[in-house]
Amino acid sequence: MSKITFYRDLYQQVEALISDEADVIANMANVSALLFEQLSDVNWVGFYRLLNEELVLGPFQGKVACIRIPLARGVCGTAAALNQVQRIDDVHSFDGHIACDARSNAEIVLPIMLNNKVIAVLDIDSIAFNRFDNEDQQGLEKIVRLFEDVMIKHGVVNL
Ligand code: SME
Repeated sequence: MSKITFYRDLYQQVEALISDEADVIANMANVSALLFEQLSDVNWVGFYRLLNEELVLGPFQGKVACIRIPLARGVCGTAAALNQVQRIDDVHSFDGHIACDARSNAEIVLPIMLNNKVIAVLDIDSIAFNRFDNEDQQGLEKIVRLFEDVMIKHGVVNL
């Protein structure tokens, strides 16, 4: 199956799971479970919420992880501080990477916005170096935009 087809199917599954639900934490929980199940070679999928200038662990699948990450620290803190996707082929060469699971070799972190502010990040770790390419990034960005649209649809104002 091509990645384009894979992500089109995944998008539809996420849409069916979250579009009628207003509770953001419940939606984060189900999206992390779905992505963990569907993406190959991933060892951690989850959300960190940005609360008082600090990332705080949210719903996830995988090994226990660090609970609080200061803004601008690690891959997650960098994505949140810059409001920019971080796609890292080899986390060992990322200065300041926070190793929650020693098996992780590649990582992608996508900021989630509400009212023009970053309110959370989606973090996905892989055991495979170079796991995430541009097609993965584009597919995951669409899912994050859907997540944002569902929050707006349900009148969510913050986390
Ligand atoms: N590796 C991340 C920390 C979170 S864990 O991967 C779950 C980072 O450097 O921000």
